Amino acid sequence: MTFDVVIRNGTIVTASDMFTADIGITGETIDTIGHDLTGHRVIDATGLLVMPGGIDGHCHIEQEEADGTVHEDDFASASASALLGGTTSVVCFASHVPGRDIVAQFEDYLRRGQRSRVDFAIHQIVTRTDADTIEKGIPEIAHRGAAGLKVFMTYDDFHLTDGQFLRVLDAAKASGLVVSVHCENYDAIRHMIEAHLAAGRTDAHAHATSRPSCLEREATYRAMTLAELAGHDIQIFHVSCPDVAEEIARARHRGVRVSAETCPHYLTLTESDLKRDGFEGAKYICSPPLRTQADRDGMWPYLRDGVIGIVSSDHCGYTFEGSSGKARHGRDADFSLIPNGMPGLGTRLPVLFDAGVNGGEIGLTDFVRLTATAPARRYGLYPRKGTIAPGSDADLVLWDPARQVTITNDLFQGNIDYTPYEGRLVTGWPTIVLARGKIAVENGQVLREPTMGRFIRPECS
Ligand code: URP
Ligand code: ZN
Ligand code: ZN
Ligand code: ZN
Repeated sequence: MTFDVVIRNGTIVTASDMFTADIGITGETIDTIGHDLTGHRVIDATGLLVMPGGIDGHCHIEQEEADGTVHEDDFASASASALLGGTTSVVCFASHVPGRDIVAQFEDYLRRGQRSRVDFAIHQIVTRTDADTIEKGIPEIAHRGAAGLKVFMTYDDFHLTDGQFLRVLDAAKASGLVVSVHCENYDAIRHMIEAHLAAGRTDAHAHATSRPSCLEREATYRAMTLAELAGHDIQIFHVSCPDVAEEIARARHRGVRVSAETCPHYLTLTESDLKRDGFEGAKYICSPPLRTQADRDGMWPYLRDGVIGIVSSDHCGYTFEGSSGKARHGRDADFSLIPNGMPGLGTRLPVLFDAGVNGGEIGLTDFVRLTATAPARRYGLYPRKGTIAPGSDADLVLWDPARQVTITNDLFQGNIDYTPYEGRLVTGWPTIVLARGKIAVENGQVLREPTMGRFIRPECS
């Protein structure tokens, strides 16, 4: 039998195994894993790792904000940078802005996604709990194929009270949707921001000191308690420090159905980045904020033991200079006016590989589990996505573990004008990326057009 494509003699890495073999691809899917396979096109992967394409379970792409502005990093742009960094599927966010029906917003977002180069699933944000949203909207969105819901315990335009959160949990449980939560204590942060501004602290570093980790820990505990009460699964997004991870470990011990995610920036950057000169510190404003070096270094054990099971980018499509980006209120704006979030779709895998695998903190199978297999399982995309097995989509990344690259923003070819990792030298880089059986990246160029990505409905959740 002659396959359409054969990936020959690579070191195949899944979440559980590593072995040398050939992969035979027919059409869009993996047909056979074997030896001495023949193909119309043969790609020699000798010396390369062959891993499932990355799945980024948390990225803000072309998202509409409460004021009606839309992130400048649109689907075509963000999905190009995803592919260049080895990510072949994303789970991104449909907004729930004031005055608009939640189902209409889900449908709008689905239409925007038609410009994606990578396959995508959708988290639906919920910011209101009126009867229409809860009784009609959430069941309808589940029916239309949402991967889950996201709620916020902070941010002026988004945060829910505990009572509202419980209403969402009940509705999500009835519809079989997982609820992911942004955990920070809204009122306490408001109080802290006011105190910082009253004391003349307007600099970017005040973003970190006004949102200390105890406020993330408290909100995480509260979210898990409410989930326990509702008897439904939750997922804690972007865990920033060991203190919070420990709280999650305790809840798991007593049987709470909670899973957790962190992001490369909490493993590689620190609050000292917010002290960079001038407006540079604004690049590092995200929530929860970057923590101390001890916090950063203390995260790895929780990735190894499964308390934190997923590493996503929390990619935020704000530019640095653009009109709706970090400088939207001017370069001397106080920290509380600077949009929260950093770009990270393209850098997620190389930065994590370098810090985690080369740094001796995680193994290769851990790397695949954290960046592909676990998010696929969590969002109902597995085994179609997130592994290398007969029948799975042929989403593959051929990774050169020895290739050294100095990260610069232009490598990612998107609409975003900066990366927080500018100038960082990493070892390990994707050389060829396949998406559903077709070459999507080769020689640093994206070969996959916008519109080639498909909406993926969860098979179960
Ligand atoms: O700072 C962040 N993370 N902004 C993006 C929105 C969110 O909270 O995930
Ligand atoms: Zn319907
Ligand atoms: Zn969040
Ligand atoms: Zn986010």
